[in-house]
Amino acid sequence: MKFFIDTANLDQIREAQALGVLDGVTTNPSLMAKEGITGRNNILKHYVDICDIVEGDVSAEVISTDFEGMIKEGEELVDLHEQIVVKVPMIKDGVKALKYFSDKGIRTNCTLVFSVGQALLAAKAGATYVSPFIGRLDDISTDGLNLIAEIRHVYDNYAFETQILAASVRHTMHVIDCAKLGADVMTGPLSSIEGLLKHPLTDIGLAKFLADYKKGN
Ligand code: E4P
Repeated sequence: MKFFIDTANLDQIREAQALGVLDGVTTNPSLMAKEGITGRNNILKHYVDICDIVEGDVSAEVISTDFEGMIKEGEELVDLHEQIVVKVPMIKDGVKALKYFSDKGIRTNCTLVFSVGQALLAAKAGATYVSPFIGRLDDISTDGLNLIAEIRHVYDNYAFETQILAASVRHTMHVIDCAKLGADVMTGPLSSIEGLLKHPLTDIGLAKFLADYKKGN
């Protein structure tokens, strides 16, 4: 399972990279705005800064909602850095753009996916990643994890190569449950990854080992 961090905060990305288990980064326009990154040139520079920190894939989202605009933006984004994956929304022109990029060998992440039908379309169009937003489904009393299970089932039926990128992961149990369900990737905050570390018996055990060592030295 690949671990992506879902942020545009460079310090958080550096910290996740230093942990040694980071496989990539996802961003979106809201995450960019949260870091105060505005204006096309600053946003493009920020993508390059992120690519310089991590070794894996970095999703950069198009803002256009029409086919021609998405193609123009996507081609500009992939020219920035070899790690860039073009993030395309699940709308009609987005599906056309996914197919166009796929035919050109340009990697894509289909975002804002909330149903198995949308995930099926993304796979048919040749998306590299599909991003079902599990936290946002949970927010409206719908089981986000069930969507991961359904997409896994459908993709396995036909051996689709599109990777399931569980997005809108909010906490550590989401990470564990997505792993159990066979999501290929998860993207969430650093805290959702660091939470995997925690167990009181580890802390108690380590404290005892260190105390016993001190007794003998
Ligand atoms: C996915 O790529 C999105 O950036 C993200 O996971 C959205 O998460 P949120 O629902 O916590 O905003």
